[in-house]
Amino acid sequence: MEYQAKQLFAKHDVPVTLGAVVETAEDACAAAEKLGGRVVVKAQVLTGGRGKAGGVKLAQDPQEALAHAEQILGMDIKGHTVRRVLVTPIADIAEEYYFSFLVDRAARQYLCIASTAGGIEIEVVAHTTPEAVAKVAIDPLVGVDEAKAREIVETTGFPTQVTEEAVDIVRKLWQVFVEEDATLVEVNPLGLLGDGHLEALDGKMTLDGNADFRHPEHAAFEDKAAADPLEAAAKARGLNYVKLDGEVGVIGNGAGLVMSTLDVVAYAGAAYGVKPANFLDIGGGASAEVMADGLDIVLGDDQVKSVFVNVFGGITACDAVANGIVSALQILGDAATKPLVVRLDGNNVEEGRRILAEADHPLVTCVDTMDGAADRAAQLAAAPAPQEQRA
Ligand SMILES: Nc1ncnc2c1ncn2[C@@H]1O[C@H](COP(=O)(O)OP(=O)(O)O)[C@@H](O)[C@H]1O
Ligand SMILES: [Mg+2]
Repeated sequence: MEYQAKQLFAKHDVPVTLGAVVETAEDACAAAEKLGGRVVVKAQVLTGGRGKAGGVKLAQDPQEALAHAEQILGMDIKGHTVRRVLVTPIADIAEEYYFSFLVDRAARQYLCIASTAGGIEIEVVAHTTPEAVAKVAIDPLVGVDEAKAREIVETTGFPTQVTEEAVDIVRKLWQVFVEEDATLVEVNPLGLLGDGHLEALDGKMTLDGNADFRHPEHAAFEDKAAADPLEAAAKARGLNYVKLDGEVGVIGNGAGLVMSTLDVVAYAGAAYGVKPANFLDIGGGASAEVMADGLDIVLGDDQVKSVFVNVFGGITACDAVANGIVSALQILGDAATKPLVVRLDGNNVEEGRRILAEADHPLVTCVDTMDGAADRAAQLAAAPAPQEQRA
């Protein structure tokens, strides 16, 4: 969120104003009073475009700040509920610039994207006048040294009177990007103020979760209240789960296999009006406990009507996975309530299928191919529930 990004900017001496983060309109009013009355009330949510959505409002006095906060708190911005607002002094903005560092995976490099035509219309600018947006590749082995920072500033076309300050800020933002292990640092707007100085008036960062071990202090940034409860439960059990909006639960081993499973379920589901409900990769060693944990999470999603378990036996052979599924269903007992379509292939597949056939669990259907299983799971998810059938 903006206020968190600004904290990290401040840590690396990027010019920012921290303001006050509050959760009630009364506190917003009090904060405005302290800050001299003329403030901006800004929704703090994990998405951009707050200005256009009415989540950024200028107030001329504390009473107006109170009214704006009342309106903004609780607001829904692109599916994110506003639970807190940042109250910060109105800046005297002369110009708005766009600046970002990100990972260019295709080029195996970092990339700086910057423009002197920043502000809330940057997407439109990028679309209609792409030449107004500078893109400078950054060699990951060299990074942004003085020369590269100058190249970025010159290519972007920052006014000459702010060249030195811009070079300095570019280098500090690079420090933020590298030292905080970010995959995105975005400043829009980087404001040129009436006094001739630059200031980051907005900030957005994506931190690389793989580097969490280096940054215990980043854990405080996680918005537990906004996190999906199923995702939080899955994370607590060490599962790689992402909630999606659909009816067919998906469990697979290996991120690549799960991604393709989502594709085949989406494809098969189109005919039945259903979609994949989640991403869940239970990894290589699909033990009974991991399978039970995974099933428990997926079945905990009320939207889920059927589950597709798609496993390719490798080091963990299909018989072990089949035993895992059978014991998982025993562990879950009555908690397992929705039909399961299982597709096993790979190492020891015959034995795996035999184990499932022998267990003959009433909820389990085995289908040999991935497409066939996706189709069956989609069909089961679309079928009306038994009581509806009776009615
Ligand atoms: N401190 C501020 N003082 C004056 N105007 C501001 C301030 N912060 C933001 N704005 C204005 O509001 C616009 C949108 O705010 P911003 O923080 O960029 O939110 P978002 O990018 O989510 O729309 C900015 O482009 C700027 O014009
Ligand atoms: Mg912005």
